[in-house]
Amino acid sequence: MTAHTHHHVHEHELSKTDPRVKLLAAKIKKENHKPDALIEILHTAQNAFGYLPKEVLVYIAHELKLPPSRVFSTVTFYHFFSLKSKGEHTCLVCTGTACYVKGAQALLNKIESQFALKPGQVTTDNKLGVAVARCIGACGLAPAVVIDNEVQGKVTADDLINSINGKIATI
Ligand code: FES
Repeated sequence: MTAHTHHHVHEHELSKTDPRVKLLAAKIKKENHKPDALIEILHTAQNAFGYLPKEVLVYIAHELKLPPSRVFSTVTFYHFFSLKSKGEHTCLVCTGTACYVKGAQALLNKIESQFALKPGQVTTDNKLGVAVARCIGACGLAPAVVIDNEVQGKVTADDLINSINGKIATI
């Protein structure tokens, strides 16, 4: 049982190459790992991930030396935080300044015309959800999106639709 739990934790470790994780780490460092900065750090995380994945909360708790229960209860207390992504697959479109300038809106328009989805919505079969982020830490690759956990940079509207179709086709 214990061994299994350990394995489970390992499986959900954050990817060190994920620009969102780097962005979050930089924010935590900037705040000197101060527990007082928890809310602000949670905002940064949600703006990068579109919601607050469990492994991100565990990571934040660890970095601020707070009990995970404290971080989870803070998140559930404030209605502006969300613990869930919508849909079996998610397409997170970065609409931060750099990505916006490079055409993030055109990506959202294409998604809307192809799948009839606006940010925050999910298809009726729950296969695909669309969310927006405010910066995923990959500004040099603008416009950037994250499909499931895969960051894609300099994406065109057609590439994006192809990747999404590829994801939703695999079960
Ligand atoms: S603004 Fe999109 S990655 Fe920074």
